[in-house]
Amino acid sequence: MPKLVPVNQTRVTFLSRSVNEGYARAVLAAFLTQLDPTVPQLADIKTAVSEAVTNCIVHAYPGTLGPVQMDITLFEGGVVRVVVRDRGVGIEDVARAMEPLYTTGDPEERAGLGFAVMQSFMDSVRVASRPGHGTRVTLVRQLERRA
Ligand SMILES: Nc1ncnc2c1ncn2[C@@H]1O[C@H](COP(=O)(O)OP(=O)(O)O)[C@@H](O)[C@H]1O
Ligand SMILES: [Mg+2]
Repeated sequence: MPKLVPVNQTRVTFLSRSVNEGYARAVLAAFLTQLDPTVPQLADIKTAVSEAVTNCIVHAYPGTLGPVQMDITLFEGGVVRVVVRDRGVGIEDVARAMEPLYTTGDPEERAGLGFAVMQSFMDSVRVASRPGHGTRVTLVRQLERRA
């Protein structure tokens, strides 16, 4: 794989309040504007990032609030990388957590499909987590050139 050359980068940090899911989406959309993405490309990336951010909001800090950090880096050739991280409870078994339909949340509210959605909309999804220390989700997508 050719070396990725970064072109632009931004970082935001916000509290794990559900209202900030919309904030994260807005920041993402605003920053990606410079790539002139198609409507479907933008929708895909926003959907995937929303799932990662929602997981920090819903799962990382049970009964409390904590920081969520989102880093967006644009590389030459239209490659977008979004890293979403928290300092929450972490995930004991990442492989299991990523299985479709697996959830530790309320099954009435959670479908257990967040990671499956991320994988379907992004080229790569990497999850690193340390129980008691937090979770980092790295999402990468190459935007195909417009016809
Ligand atoms: N940031 C996170 N911190 C702690 N646990 C997480 C985090 N993200 C995901 N998980 C765990 O992975 C499981 C699967 O996540 P996901 O596929 O998004 O399904 P859902 O959010 O519907 O439960 C969650 O139920 C939770 O146990
Ligand atoms: Mg989820």
